Amino acid sequence: MSWDHVWIDVNLATMDPNNSAAYGAITDAAIAVKDGKIAWLGPRKELPDFDVFSMPVYRGRGGWITPGLIDAHTHLVFAGSRANEFEMRLEGASYEDIARAGGGIISTVNACRKAEESELFELGRQRLNALAKEGVTTVEIKSGYGLDTETEVKLLKVARELGRNHHVDVKTTFLGAHAIPPEYKDDVEGYVDLVVNNMLPKVIEQGLADAADVFCENIAFNLAQTEKVLTAAQQAGLDIKLHAEQLSNMGGSALAAKLGAKSVDHIEYLDEDGVKALAASGTCATLLPGAYYFLRETQMPPIELLRKHQVPIVVASDFNPGSSPICSTLLMLNMACTLFRLTPEEALKGITANAAKALGIEEKVGVLAQGMQADFCLWDITTPAQLAYSYGVNPCKDVVKNGVLVHQ
Ligand code: NIG
Ligand code: FE
Repeated sequence: MSWDHVWIDVNLATMDPNNSAAYGAITDAAIAVKDGKIAWLGPRKELPDFDVFSMPVYRGRGGWITPGLIDAHTHLVFAGSRANEFEMRLEGASYEDIARAGGGIISTVNACRKAEESELFELGRQRLNALAKEGVTTVEIKSGYGLDTETEVKLLKVARELGRNHHVDVKTTFLGAHAIPPEYKDDVEGYVDLVVNNMLPKVIEQGLADAADVFCENIAFNLAQTEKVLTAAQQAGLDIKLHAEQLSNMGGSALAAKLGAKSVDHIEYLDEDGVKALAASGTCATLLPGAYYFLRETQMPPIELLRKHQVPIVVASDFNPGSSPICSTLLMLNMACTLFRLTPEEALKGITANAAKALGIEEKVGVLAQGMQADFCLWDITTPAQLAYSYGVNPCKDVVKNGVLVHQ
């Protein structure tokens, strides 16, 4: 056998649905890598003979290997801080009050419009490093803090640049319809036209986005406006997704499902009809426990209904300065279990196999199987549930990205 390297003395949480064990586990296993792909995996005793002197053999000391983690929903390119709003909320103001008074997303927009690309890049790089240290190998980054063509393009360029300069793969999402900028306060339709007829073509022309998203909410865009943007994005060849049912039930999820969205995200206020719509279209339900926690939401997402209708559940950080200033995908595992009562296995699936589905990259990453891209992490844990159980001492020991052992 000629591989590039092989790992022994490991257990594998493959998360492969074809393996019916919990976590798709293979204990006392081995995994071999060749040309950036998983060339072989299985029980150690079935490992084909190979020349131990011809390739590096890494020993996992009985730890667990999982697929590289995928954070399928972040807003990690932004400038400024909203700590003042945190203080205001502690004095009694709500997230919606602050948004309606011109703070919230708009305050980050003001900071981003002023920021140089180099500053945004450096801030983004530090955040990407923090995620990477915890085993993240793919991240989605949204724009949405520009709300004018120039700044939306700037944010997406920075996100693309981060992907080119970091071992973490970056998928970009155009979120021009994130909020109504002050210039269009009395002309929302005019802003939607700008998004569809000016921003979107520029973003497409420069190949800056893989997907498009809209914030469908009573403080942002209504159903008709949401449909306009999503349809235009889809016609331009982008995947679509939606911030839906975060603060109220607007029917956004059902609309997005009807259009074939990859995911709907937040969904605390989603009802059973909405869940059925997701099931019918194969749309993923992305839970964002960081935002639920930070906004002290009390409306639980409809977990039982998602299970009943077998909707793929994704878990993501939603890292952003307003509703989830928590730059840790790993912590989301714990929050998804403590706040939403997901099982640790469901939560881990939500940041691996199902997260890959939400980004449309499930043919390449998200599970450990022969032929998949060799993106995986070695954890110093004795059972996969430990990843969700405890937080603070980072158990991520090694990361292999595209078949290469990453030094970080
Ligand atoms: O996903 N819901 C809308 N957008 C973000 C929050 C953005 C912000 O407050 O800056 C979210 O929660
Ligand atoms: Fe978000």
